[in-house]
Amino acid sequence: MKRAIAGFCLGAGLLGACAVAEMPQPPEGQALFVENCALCHGADGRGGGDIAAGLQPAPPDLTRISARNGGDFPRAQVLSQIDGYTRMDRTEEMPEFGLLLRGETVPVDVGDGQLSPVPRPLAALMVYLESIQR
Ligand code: HEC
Repeated sequence: MKRAIAGFCLGAGLLGACAVAEMPQPPEGQALFVENCALCHGADGRGGGDIAAGLQPAPPDLTRISARNGGDFPRAQVLSQIDGYTRMDRTEEMPEFGLLLRGETVPVDVGDGQLSPVPRPLAALMVYLESIQR
């Protein structure tokens, strides 16, 4: 894991960049969530946001993602979902956040030991969701 991070930093060509390219903490994602997601998913992520009642399908309870996946938080899948990469054969109800999610990338372990560069706001939202699983 440490070696993989070093490789990422060398690959980036800037050792200084390593210091800032750290995983965001949940509060950073929570702030983005309240701003962009709570309208549908609710302030606590459990559904029941202000406009949730009018949506078909209803926004799912985001604190039960792990529970729905055999106890594992599916990082790569959640990243894809938020970013809209896998939207093609899904409902159009959930808007894409392409503009919000651009910018500086951080290396994220997407579950198979591989580090993928992920835009920081997207990584922050993922870490926040991971932190509220129950
Ligand atoms: C306009 C309402 C709306 C907004 C705003 C919204 N979502 Fe969603 N979201 C949905 C709906 C409806 C679904 C279920 C249908 C689907 O997958 O598209 C969903 C599904 C998801 C899922 C998949 C959950 C699972 O169990 O597979 C994730 C993760 C998610 N949303 C995260 C977010 C995040 C993070 C934001 C804010 C950046 C956000 N959503 C904003 C309506 C919304």
